[in-house]
Amino acid sequence: MKLFSSVNDVKDVPALVAEALQLKKDPFAFQHLGKNKTLSLVFLNPSLRTRMSTQKAGANLGMNVIVLNIDKEGWALELRDGVIMNGTTVEHIREAAGVMGEYSDIIGVRSFPGLKDRDEDYSETIFNKFVEFCKVPVVSLESATRHPLQSLADLVTIEELKTVSRPKVVLTWAPHIKPLPQAVPNSFAEWMCKADVDFTIAHPAGYGLCADFTNSAIITHNQDEAIKDADFIYVKNWSAYEPYGAITGGNEDWMLNNDKLKIAPKAKIMHCLPVRRDLELSSEILDGPQSVVIHEAGNRVWAAQAVLKQMLEVL
Ligand code: CP
Repeated sequence: MKLFSSVNDVKDVPALVAEALQLKKDPFAFQHLGKNKTLSLVFLNPSLRTRMSTQKAGANLGMNVIVLNIDKEGWALELRDGVIMNGTTVEHIREAAGVMGEYSDIIGVRSFPGLKDRDEDYSETIFNKFVEFCKVPVVSLESATRHPLQSLADLVTIEELKTVSRPKVVLTWAPHIKPLPQAVPNSFAEWMCKADVDFTIAHPAGYGLCADFTNSAIITHNQDEAIKDADFIYVKNWSAYEPYGAITGGNEDWMLNNDKLKIAPKAKIMHCLPVRRDLELSSEILDGPQSVVIHEAGNRVWAAQAVLKQMLEVL
């Protein structure tokens, strides 16, 4: 694997999930693969889980790991071509990414969307420029439209915790006070549509995701109907795809609580984190027996390690 930006970069999804679960059992078995290899993790936006889990995954494989919070510690980057750099930007992404490639065998990049210009965000301008100019394999640490390491960890979690061969998985919209990207729900939907699950998406009117990511999903505005007897409920807020980045009030009753979960007594509750307690998801669920959010975050290590291992194998 030379690029991991979406599920479409994975030849065999079940094999990658199995590889992650095997690495969880034996984390240090492939340290020889990463010996004298450098993994650089470049963040244009904040992170806790992605940063720490991918750093740990690289170390488990014997890699040297560099973390650069380029938004805070690097030169101000110019991302546009054809501009005279007489403003606040100091270094062009062409040189910055090219230089990072000189120091790295694999690069991970996190670059969130602006949520202002849908065409620009959905063409993945920044992420694709890193891929073009760094000239080494690239892992998405969350881009404008997808978060594939999160989705792989989510699928690993479902595979590990399922109690029926084809579980019912529901992605439900949750309230928030700020416009959030569609990357996590897009990506989760895209991976679930390729997995052996019955997949439903529930959201209020006006929050439909881009159809490119949801092709075989059942889509409903009725949350109760969707979550009834679910095996897994994935909770996440996202802003509107159309009008792009918009949020509207009045959907506060979409927050899950124990009362709502009475119709899904066996459901395991997932969230990518960070989560705003008692806004997106109730504390009673997060602190209760149905929540698997910490376990899910733990699986971020094995997901990242499986992807890095497949990249190291073809370096
Ligand atoms: N879920 C996730 O990507 O968390 P961070 O933003 O903290 O990395």
